Amino acid sequence: MKIYVPMDSAAKALGAEEVVSALRAAAPEAQIVRTGSRGMIWLEPLVEVEVDGVRHGFGPAEPSDVVGILDGSSAKALGPVENLDWMKRQSRLTFARVGVIDPLSLADYRAHGGLAGLRRALAMTGQEIVDEVKTSGLRGRGGAGFPTGIKWQTVHDADAPQKYIVCNADEGDSATFADRMLMEGDPFTLIEGMTIAGIGVGATKGYVYLRSEYPDAIAVMTRAVEVARAEGLLGPDVLGSGRAFEMEIRKGAGAYVCGEETSLLNSLEGKRGVVRAKPPLPALEGFLGRPTVVNNVISLATVPVIFEKGGQAYADFGLGRSRGTVTLQIAGNVARGGLFETAFGISLGEVVNDLGGGTLSGRPVKAVQVGGPLGAYMPLSKFNTLLGYEEFDAAGGLIGHAGLTVFDDTTDMLDMARFAMEFCAVESCGKCTPCRIGAVRGVETIDRIAQGDADALPLLADLCETMKDGSLCALGGFTPFPVMSAVTQFPDDFARLKEAAE
Ligand SMILES: Cc1cc2nc3c(=O)[nH]c(=O)nc-3n(C[C@H](O)[C@H](O)[C@H](O)COP(=O)(O)O)c2cc1C
Ligand code: SF4
Repeated sequence: MKIYVPMDSAAKALGAEEVVSALRAAAPEAQIVRTGSRGMIWLEPLVEVEVDGVRHGFGPAEPSDVVGILDGSSAKALGPVENLDWMKRQSRLTFARVGVIDPLSLADYRAHGGLAGLRRALAMTGQEIVDEVKTSGLRGRGGAGFPTGIKWQTVHDADAPQKYIVCNADEGDSATFADRMLMEGDPFTLIEGMTIAGIGVGATKGYVYLRSEYPDAIAVMTRAVEVARAEGLLGPDVLGSGRAFEMEIRKGAGAYVCGEETSLLNSLEGKRGVVRAKPPLPALEGFLGRPTVVNNVISLATVPVIFEKGGQAYADFGLGRSRGTVTLQIAGNVARGGLFETAFGISLGEVVNDLGGGTLSGRPVKAVQVGGPLGAYMPLSKFNTLLGYEEFDAAGGLIGHAGLTVFDDTTDMLDMARFAMEFCAVESCGKCTPCRIGAVRGVETIDRIAQGDADALPLLADLCETMKDGSLCALGGFTPFPVMSAVTQFPDDFARLKEAAE
């Protein structure tokens, strides 16, 4: 009997280890394979029992469910996992193997299409590799949505004795966990993507900058790099091609701003995580002053499937200038939270109400913050906005790393505006005045509004303009989006207080 149980940290937090112990005790003869998560967090720990090659799900499993799971009588039976609505409706390209394979088995990885992309890339020139990424239309999934192929072209064209690939695995945005899930569930995909990037731009060394709050991801990635090295996927002669690529996992100490690429590079060099002025671009003067590709985990982990299926096949998914798939992370006060990979173009309302099933509290949805702590709070009136970079921009929002935090109607948006400003004050690197001082003044100004001082509202708008225009990076520059979206989209939460003071 073959049983699959995730070792993803979300599944573990929900009791996967206890379920595995109970399974081992009840069925010592069974083969238990540890996998990543399928992304249906409300069903974790999700146990899958293979019957005639089909994996049948049971969840959320508890140790007391084990007997029923083993004899097939459990009330938590979900049927074949691939037939579940959540799975059937997805276009899993980047996450195709997550939840399916043993993350640390290179044989399993190969058997599920792994390394096909790298093998194809190894037969191409650097310029052909860069062109393929351009054809795919891939844009950076870390937040800014910058075209990956153009970034790679700059590094490819730079003349330098050493170039680097740096993977941004800091994943500090609220409601985001795609990077973690990918690294814990399919680490070789990231290694393969970084290797293709290295071969493409002429970089022989890569680093994954991984936040210390992700101990499981650090352990899986570290082991995966060792396995990849031992099996000739990394090293001086990648898969016998005569081309070299090596990589290391580095642990970040945990600061939101260290996800900003220049701050990350300082931290990686052992310096304080302070933002660097641009130019020079990291693509020209990055890690240790050398040309560096800095890309998000999901951007790099999408590269293998682009090379396996072809850039055009990837570009065939999507909407407008947002090509391919978006890995939505649905969280907050929501009935069904988790990871859902789909082509760009789905509407915000469909994600929240249909996929997410509305709020967990059962109360009406009031707002959704999309794109982490720097994203706008989207009201119900914007739920027809389609998931696409330009479409969200036009609606005054941003997709960012595609994390969504759902709030119900008990949420006070003045509190949320204050939270956004306070977050900026706490996390500011301190390099520029509009952010360092402005965020502190912003919290004070919102407190004045809360006390009924109506004169403070225009002051807040003015301060937000200054932060937007004068900040050196997007931490100070984008904090006005959540703050002012709360003010403009939910005026009642601010007006109520004015009335109370009158
Ligand atoms: C304050 C701040 C925090 C950021 N945090 C992250 C992060 O955690 N992960 C990430 O990939 N990008 C983050 N970014 C974006 C990076 O600066 C950069 O754009 C990204 O790593 C580039 O990779 P991509 O083109 O693949 O998206 C952050 C940016 C800012 C301003
Ligand atoms: S905006 Fe804030 S985080 Fe960014 S450089 Fe200025 S002080 Fe640092």
